[in-house]
Amino acid sequence: MAKARVTFADVNVTVTVPVGVGIIEISEAVGSYIAYNCREGDCGTCMFEVLQGAENLSEPSRMEKNTLLFAFKEIIDGWRAIDDLDALQAKIKRENFAGKTCRLACQTQVFGDVNVAPLQF
Ligand code: FES
Repeated sequence: MAKARVTFADVNVTVTVPVGVGIIEISEAVGSYIAYNCREGDCGTCMFEVLQGAENLSEPSRMEKNTLLFAFKEIIDGWRAIDDLDALQAKIKRENFAGKTCRLACQTQVFGDVNVAPLQF
């Protein structure tokens, strides 16, 4: 059976798993801080960052893309609600998504080596 190495940067743990296993199951097993709630691709809580190896993950479904779109819009709405320039700049700098690849842990399976982290890592 083919294997993949998955690294969780927040807890500095690398594990070898059979291909096809979900990020959320591996995250739970290693104690990563990737949060989750519905486990059905609907809430967006389990959004995580792919640091390396995005090509080794399952393709996002239409549902996952829609949930990610909604989650990003909520984040932007949160930025809009801040009425202090310094606070807004600090938050945008801290949460800068430019160049990040974000996925939903409950919807993503591994098919090769990847390095991942919670969004706020
Ligand atoms: S836990 Fe809700 S979308 Fe993944």
